Amino acid sequence: MTLAELENAKAESLKEIAAANDAAAVEALRVKYVGRNGSIPALIKAMKDVPKEERPAFGKAVQAWRAEVEAALAAKGAGSVGEKSVDADLTLPGRWWGLGVKHPLSRVIEETAAIFGRLGFTVADGPELETKFNNFTALNTPAHHPSMDRSDTFWFGEDCLLRTQTSPVQIRTMMANKPPIRVICPGRTYRRDTTDATHSANFHQIEGLYVDTKPVSLADLKSVLAYFAKEMMGDGVTVRFRPHFFPFTEPSVEVDFTCHVCKGKGCNVCKQSGWIEVAGAGMVDPRVFGHVGYDAEKVSGYAFGFGVERIAMIKYGIPDIRWLYENDVRFLSQLA
Ligand code: DAH
Repeated sequence: MTLAELENAKAESLKEIAAANDAAAVEALRVKYVGRNGSIPALIKAMKDVPKEERPAFGKAVQAWRAEVEAALAAKGAGSVGEKSVDADLTLPGRWWGLGVKHPLSRVIEETAAIFGRLGFTVADGPELETKFNNFTALNTPAHHPSMDRSDTFWFGEDCLLRTQTSPVQIRTMMANKPPIRVICPGRTYRRDTTDATHSANFHQIEGLYVDTKPVSLADLKSVLAYFAKEMMGDGVTVRFRPHFFPFTEPSVEVDFTCHVCKGKGCNVCKQSGWIEVAGAGMVDPRVFGHVGYDAEKVSGYAFGFGVERIAMIKYGIPDIRWLYENDVRFLSQLA
Protein backbone atom coordinates (compact mmCIF):
# COMPACT_ATOMS: atom_id res chain seq x y z
CA MET A 1 0.00 0.00 0.00
CA THR A 2 1.34 3.41 -0.90
CA LEU A 3 0.95 6.47 1.31
CA ALA A 4 -1.77 7.85 -0.98
CA GLU A 5 -3.69 4.55 -0.86
CA LEU A 6 -3.37 4.61 2.92
CA GLU A 7 -4.89 8.11 3.11
CA ASN A 8 -7.79 6.96 0.94
CA ALA A 9 -8.39 3.89 3.10
CA LYS A 10 -8.31 6.10 6.19
CA ALA A 11 -10.89 8.54 4.77
CA GLU A 12 -13.08 5.59 3.79
CA SER A 13 -12.85 4.03 7.29
CA LEU A 14 -13.75 7.29 9.05
CA LYS A 15 -16.69 7.76 6.74
CA GLU A 16 -17.92 4.24 7.52
CA ILE A 17 -17.60 4.84 11.26
CA ALA A 18 -19.43 8.16 11.00
CA ALA A 19 -22.25 6.39 9.20
CA ALA A 20 -22.56 3.52 11.71
CA ASN A 21 -25.80 4.00 13.58
CA ASP A 22 -26.02 1.16 16.08
CA ALA A 23 -23.72 -0.61 18.54
CA ALA A 24 -23.46 -3.75 16.38
CA ALA A 25 -22.28 -1.74 13.36
CA VAL A 26 -19.71 0.13 15.49
CA GLU A 27 -18.42 -3.19 16.90
CA ALA A 28 -18.17 -4.69 13.39
CA LEU A 29 -16.06 -1.71 12.27
CA ARG A 30 -13.88 -1.95 15.38
CA VAL A 31 -13.16 -5.58 14.51
CA LYS A 32 -12.61 -4.69 10.83
CA TYR A 33 -10.04 -1.95 11.47
CA VAL A 34 -8.40 -2.37 14.89
CA GLY A 35 -9.42 -5.92 15.94
CA ARG A 36 -6.70 -8.53 16.29
CA ASN A 37 -6.91 -9.44 12.61
CA GLY A 38 -8.07 -5.99 11.50
CA SER A 39 -6.56 -4.07 8.60
CA ILE A 40 -4.48 -1.66 10.70
CA PRO A 41 -2.68 -4.39 12.75
CA ALA A 42 -2.13 -6.21 9.43
CA LEU A 43 -0.42 -3.13 8.02
CA ILE A 44 1.79 -2.86 11.11
CA LYS A 45 2.77 -6.51 10.72
CA ALA A 46 3.60 -5.95 7.05
CA MET A 47 5.78 -2.94 7.83
CA LYS A 48 8.96 -4.98 7.36
CA ASP A 49 8.17 -5.23 3.60
CA VAL A 50 8.03 -1.43 3.18
CA PRO A 51 11.31 -0.07 1.71
CA LYS A 52 13.57 1.12 4.50
CA GLU A 53 13.60 4.82 3.50
CA GLU A 54 9.79 4.97 3.40
CA ARG A 55 9.27 3.15 6.66
CA PRO A 56 9.32 6.13 9.11
CA ALA A 57 6.77 8.18 7.15
CA PHE A 58 4.62 5.10 6.52
CA GLY A 59 4.76 4.07 10.16
CA LYS A 60 3.71 7.52 11.31
CA ALA A 61 0.76 7.52 8.90
CA VAL A 62 -0.41 4.09 10.10
CA GLN A 63 -0.23 5.20 13.76
CA ALA A 64 -2.17 8.37 12.92
CA TRP A 65 -4.80 6.27 11.15
CA ARG A 66 -5.10 3.99 14.15
CA ALA A 67 -5.45 6.93 16.57
CA GLU A 68 -8.13 8.60 14.47
CA VAL A 69 -10.10 5.37 14.01
CA GLU A 70 -9.90 4.64 17.76
CA ALA A 71 -11.05 8.15 18.62
CA ALA A 72 -13.93 7.92 16.14
CA LEU A 73 -14.95 4.50 17.50
CA ALA A 74 -14.74 5.73 21.10
CA ALA A 75 -16.93 8.68 20.25
CA LYS A 76 -19.51 6.15 19.07
CA GLY A 77 -19.26 4.21 22.35
CA ALA A 78 -17.21 1.26 21.07
CA GLY A 79 -15.87 -1.15 23.69
CA SER A 80 -18.56 -0.44 26.27
CA VAL A 81 -20.79 -3.30 27.29
CA GLY A 82 -24.26 -2.66 26.01
CA GLU A 83 -26.24 0.48 26.59
CA LYS A 84 -26.15 0.29 30.40
CA SER A 85 -22.60 1.36 31.00
CA VAL A 86 -23.03 4.28 28.63
CA ASP A 87 -25.84 5.36 30.95
CA ALA A 88 -23.90 4.58 34.18
CA ASP A 89 -24.26 7.29 36.82
CA LEU A 90 -20.65 8.13 37.50
CA THR A 91 -21.60 10.43 40.36
CA LEU A 92 -22.80 7.51 42.53
CA PRO A 93 -20.47 6.80 45.50
CA GLY A 94 -18.37 3.63 45.07
CA ARG A 95 -18.93 0.46 47.06
CA TRP A 96 -16.73 0.01 50.19
CA TRP A 97 -15.62 -3.58 50.65
CA GLY A 98 -13.65 -2.83 53.82
CA LEU A 99 -10.03 -3.47 54.70
CA GLY A 100 -8.92 -6.51 56.65
CA VAL A 101 -8.03 -5.96 60.31
CA LYS A 102 -5.57 -7.66 62.61
CA HIS A 103 -6.99 -10.44 64.73
CA PRO A 104 -7.27 -9.53 68.46
CA LEU A 105 -4.85 -12.33 69.39
CA SER A 106 -2.26 -11.06 66.89
CA ARG A 107 -2.71 -7.57 68.29
CA VAL A 108 -2.08 -8.66 71.86
CA ILE A 109 0.99 -10.66 70.82
CA GLU A 110 2.41 -7.79 68.75
CA GLU A 111 1.71 -5.18 71.43
CA THR A 112 3.29 -7.38 74.08
CA ALA A 113 6.40 -7.84 71.94
CA ALA A 114 6.59 -4.06 71.43
CA ILE A 115 6.14 -3.27 75.16
CA PHE A 116 8.77 -5.78 76.29
CA GLY A 117 10.94 -4.78 73.35
CA ARG A 118 11.22 -1.33 74.95
CA LEU A 119 12.58 -3.07 78.07
CA GLY A 120 15.25 -4.98 76.13
CA PHE A 121 13.38 -8.28 75.67
CA THR A 122 13.56 -10.13 72.37
CA VAL A 123 11.12 -12.73 71.02
CA ALA A 124 12.08 -16.42 71.29
CA ASP A 125 10.32 -19.32 69.63
CA GLY A 126 9.94 -23.04 70.22
CA PRO A 127 8.10 -26.01 68.69
CA GLU A 128 4.55 -26.99 69.58
CA LEU A 129 5.53 -30.67 69.76
CA GLU A 130 7.74 -30.96 72.82
CA THR A 131 9.61 -33.53 74.85
CA LYS A 132 8.49 -34.57 78.30
CA PHE A 133 11.81 -33.22 79.59
CA ASN A 134 11.31 -29.68 78.27
CA ASN A 135 7.62 -29.40 79.08
CA PHE A 136 7.65 -31.05 82.52
CA THR A 137 10.84 -32.56 83.93
CA ALA A 138 13.23 -29.64 83.41
CA LEU A 139 10.51 -27.36 84.77
CA ASN A 140 10.71 -29.32 88.01
CA THR A 141 7.29 -30.92 87.63
CA PRO A 142 7.03 -33.92 89.97
CA ALA A 143 6.96 -37.28 88.14
CA HIS A 144 3.30 -37.99 88.88
CA HIS A 145 1.89 -34.50 88.67
CA PRO A 146 -1.75 -34.55 87.43
CA SER A 147 -0.93 -32.14 84.58
CA MET A 148 1.00 -35.01 82.92
CA ASP A 149 -2.09 -37.23 82.85
CA ARG A 150 -3.40 -38.53 79.55
CA SER A 151 -6.64 -36.80 80.46
CA ASP A 152 -4.93 -33.39 80.59
CA THR A 153 -2.18 -33.56 77.95
CA PHE A 154 -2.12 -34.67 74.31
CA TRP A 155 0.60 -37.35 74.25
CA PHE A 156 2.21 -38.96 71.21
CA GLY A 157 4.03 -41.91 72.72
CA GLU A 158 6.12 -41.85 75.89
CA ASP A 159 8.19 -38.75 75.31
CA CYS A 160 6.38 -36.56 72.81
CA LEU A 161 3.48 -34.21 73.55
CA LEU A 162 1.75 -31.04 72.42
CA ARG A 163 3.18 -28.45 74.80
CA THR A 164 0.75 -27.54 77.59
CA GLN A 165 2.46 -24.20 78.21
CA THR A 166 5.06 -21.92 76.62
CA SER A 167 7.38 -22.50 79.62
CA PRO A 168 9.46 -25.15 77.74
CA VAL A 169 10.80 -22.29 75.58
CA GLN A 170 12.51 -21.11 78.81
CA ILE A 171 14.41 -24.39 78.89
CA ARG A 172 15.37 -24.27 75.20
CA THR A 173 16.48 -20.64 75.46
CA MET A 174 18.63 -21.22 78.54
CA MET A 175 20.21 -24.34 77.05
CA ALA A 176 21.16 -22.47 73.91
CA ASN A 177 22.35 -19.21 75.49
CA LYS A 178 24.36 -17.79 78.37
CA PRO A 179 22.93 -15.13 80.72
CA PRO A 180 21.93 -12.35 80.57
CA ILE A 181 18.71 -13.56 78.91
CA ARG A 182 15.66 -11.40 78.36
CA VAL A 183 13.01 -13.08 76.21
CA ILE A 184 9.31 -13.33 75.72
CA CYS A 185 7.94 -16.43 73.97
CA PRO A 186 4.47 -16.19 72.43
CA GLY A 187 2.92 -19.34 71.00
CA ARG A 188 0.20 -21.95 70.77
CA THR A 189 -0.44 -24.31 73.67
CA TYR A 190 -2.67 -27.36 74.02
CA ARG A 191 -4.65 -29.02 76.81
CA ARG A 192 -7.37 -31.63 76.83
CA ASP A 193 -9.99 -29.12 77.94
CA THR A 194 -13.61 -29.24 76.89
CA THR A 195 -14.42 -26.09 74.98
CA ASP A 196 -16.76 -23.64 76.66
CA ALA A 197 -17.00 -19.86 77.02
CA THR A 198 -13.64 -19.62 78.83
CA HIS A 199 -11.77 -22.79 77.75
CA SER A 200 -10.31 -24.05 74.52
CA ALA A 201 -8.15 -27.12 73.87
CA ASN A 202 -5.86 -24.92 71.78
CA PHE A 203 -4.98 -21.50 73.10
CA HIS A 204 -2.03 -19.10 73.26
CA GLN A 205 0.38 -18.06 75.98
CA ILE A 206 3.22 -15.61 76.31
CA GLU A 207 6.11 -16.62 78.49
CA GLY A 208 8.67 -14.18 79.87
CA LEU A 209 12.13 -14.91 81.23
CA TYR A 210 14.92 -12.76 82.62
CA VAL A 211 18.10 -14.39 83.92
CA ASP A 212 21.27 -12.55 84.85
CA THR A 213 24.55 -13.02 86.69
CA LYS A 214 23.76 -9.97 88.78
CA PRO A 215 21.04 -10.34 91.42
CA VAL A 216 17.48 -10.27 90.09
CA SER A 217 14.65 -9.69 92.57
CA LEU A 218 10.92 -10.08 92.91
CA ALA A 219 10.76 -6.26 92.94
CA ASP A 220 12.29 -6.24 89.42
CA LEU A 221 9.57 -8.65 88.29
CA LYS A 222 6.89 -6.49 89.84
CA SER A 223 8.11 -3.28 88.21
CA VAL A 224 8.31 -4.90 84.76
CA LEU A 225 4.80 -6.35 85.05
CA ALA A 226 3.46 -3.03 86.38
CA TYR A 227 4.89 -1.32 83.30
CA PHE A 228 3.34 -3.97 81.07
CA ALA A 229 -0.06 -3.60 82.80
CA LYS A 230 -0.09 0.17 82.26
CA GLU A 231 1.06 -0.02 78.64
CA MET A 232 -1.33 -2.84 77.71
CA MET A 233 -4.43 -1.83 79.67
CA GLY A 234 -4.06 1.92 80.16
CA ASP A 235 -3.17 4.46 82.83
CA GLY A 236 -4.29 3.67 86.36
CA VAL A 237 -3.79 -0.09 85.87
CA THR A 238 -1.13 -1.70 88.04
CA VAL A 239 -0.38 -5.13 89.54
CA ARG A 240 -0.67 -6.99 92.80
CA PHE A 241 0.98 -10.30 93.68
CA ARG A 242 -0.73 -13.12 95.58
CA PRO A 243 1.32 -16.07 96.88
CA HIS A 244 0.87 -19.22 94.79
CA PHE A 245 2.72 -22.38 93.75
CA PHE A 246 4.32 -23.33 90.44
CA PRO A 247 6.93 -26.11 90.29
CA PHE A 248 9.36 -23.99 88.27
CA THR A 249 9.39 -20.83 90.40
CA GLU A 250 10.15 -20.17 94.06
CA PRO A 251 8.60 -18.05 95.39
CA SER A 252 5.63 -18.15 93.00
CA VAL A 253 2.86 -15.61 92.64
CA GLU A 254 -0.37 -15.07 90.84
CA VAL A 255 -0.57 -11.67 89.24
CA ASP A 256 -3.69 -9.50 89.23
CA PHE A 257 -4.18 -6.31 87.21
CA THR A 258 -6.28 -3.45 88.55
CA CYS A 259 -9.67 -3.78 86.83
CA HIS A 260 -9.28 -1.50 83.82
CA VAL A 261 -13.02 -0.82 83.68
CA CYS A 262 -13.56 0.60 87.20
CA LYS A 263 -9.86 1.29 87.93
CA GLY A 264 -10.11 -0.69 91.16
CA LYS A 265 -13.35 0.67 92.58
CA GLY A 266 -15.28 -2.57 92.00
CA CYS A 267 -17.69 -3.35 89.18
CA ASN A 268 -19.41 -6.27 87.44
CA VAL A 269 -16.37 -7.08 85.30
CA CYS A 270 -14.10 -7.66 88.34
CA LYS A 271 -16.91 -9.09 90.47
CA GLN A 272 -16.60 -6.06 92.76
CA SER A 273 -13.03 -6.94 93.79
CA GLY A 274 -11.25 -4.22 91.79
CA TRP A 275 -8.74 -6.84 90.52
CA ILE A 276 -8.52 -9.30 87.62
CA GLU A 277 -6.29 -12.39 87.64
CA VAL A 278 -3.99 -12.33 84.65
CA ALA A 279 -0.70 -14.22 84.99
CA GLY A 280 1.50 -16.64 86.90
CA ALA A 281 5.05 -15.66 87.79
CA GLY A 282 7.92 -16.05 90.20
CA MET A 283 11.66 -16.37 90.71
CA VAL A 284 13.18 -19.18 88.63
CA ASP A 285 13.61 -22.24 90.87
CA PRO A 286 17.29 -23.23 91.37
CA ARG A 287 16.42 -26.78 90.27
CA VAL A 288 15.40 -25.44 86.86
CA PHE A 289 18.82 -23.77 86.56
CA GLY A 290 20.34 -27.16 87.45
CA HIS A 291 18.45 -28.87 84.60
CA VAL A 292 19.81 -26.44 82.00
CA GLY A 293 23.38 -26.55 83.27
CA TYR A 294 23.46 -23.14 84.96
CA ASP A 295 25.13 -22.66 88.35
CA ALA A 296 22.23 -21.63 90.60
CA GLU A 297 24.72 -19.95 92.94
CA LYS A 298 25.81 -17.57 90.18
CA VAL A 299 22.59 -16.69 88.36
CA SER A 300 19.11 -15.58 89.32
CA GLY A 301 16.03 -14.62 87.38
CA TYR A 302 12.30 -14.30 87.14
CA ALA A 303 9.71 -15.84 84.84
CA PHE A 304 6.10 -15.16 84.06
CA GLY A 305 3.42 -16.53 81.80
CA PHE A 306 -0.03 -15.42 80.78
CA GLY A 307 -2.81 -16.36 78.40
CA VAL A 308 -3.16 -14.27 75.25
CA GLU A 309 -6.89 -15.02 75.00
CA ARG A 310 -7.39 -13.87 78.57
CA ILE A 311 -5.69 -10.51 77.93
CA ALA A 312 -7.63 -10.05 74.67
CA MET A 313 -10.95 -10.89 76.35
CA ILE A 314 -10.31 -8.43 79.18
CA LYS A 315 -8.91 -5.67 76.97
CA TYR A 316 -11.64 -5.81 74.33
CA GLY A 317 -14.54 -6.94 76.54
CA ILE A 318 -15.01 -10.29 74.71
CA PRO A 319 -17.33 -12.54 76.75
CA ASP A 320 -16.75 -15.85 74.91
CA ILE A 321 -13.36 -17.33 73.97
CA ARG A 322 -14.92 -19.16 71.00
CA TRP A 323 -15.53 -15.87 69.22
CA LEU A 324 -11.76 -15.61 68.84
CA TYR A 325 -11.64 -18.73 66.64
CA GLU A 326 -14.77 -18.48 64.53
CA ASN A 327 -13.52 -15.81 62.12
CA ASP A 328 -16.93 -14.18 61.99
CA VAL A 329 -16.34 -10.93 60.13
CA ARG A 330 -19.09 -9.20 62.11
CA PHE A 331 -17.02 -9.80 65.24
CA LEU A 332 -13.56 -9.21 63.79
CA SER A 333 -14.45 -6.01 61.98
CA GLN A 334 -15.35 -4.31 65.26
CA LEU A 335 -11.66 -3.75 65.92
CA ALA A 336 -11.21 -1.80 62.69
N1 DAH B 1 3.09 -22.08 82.66
C1 DAH B 1 2.12 -21.57 83.61
C2 DAH B 1 0.73 -22.04 83.24
O1 DAH B 1 0.53 -22.48 82.14
C3 DAH B 1 2.17 -20.07 83.66
C4 DAH B 1 3.41 -19.59 84.35
C5 DAH B 1 3.43 -19.41 85.70
C6 DAH B 1 4.54 -19.34 83.62
C7 DAH B 1 4.57 -18.98 86.36
C8 DAH B 1 5.71 -18.90 84.26
C9 DAH B 1 5.68 -18.71 85.63
O2 DAH B 1 6.83 -18.63 83.60
O3 DAH B 1 6.82 -18.28 86.23
O4 DAH B 1 -0.16 -21.96 84.03
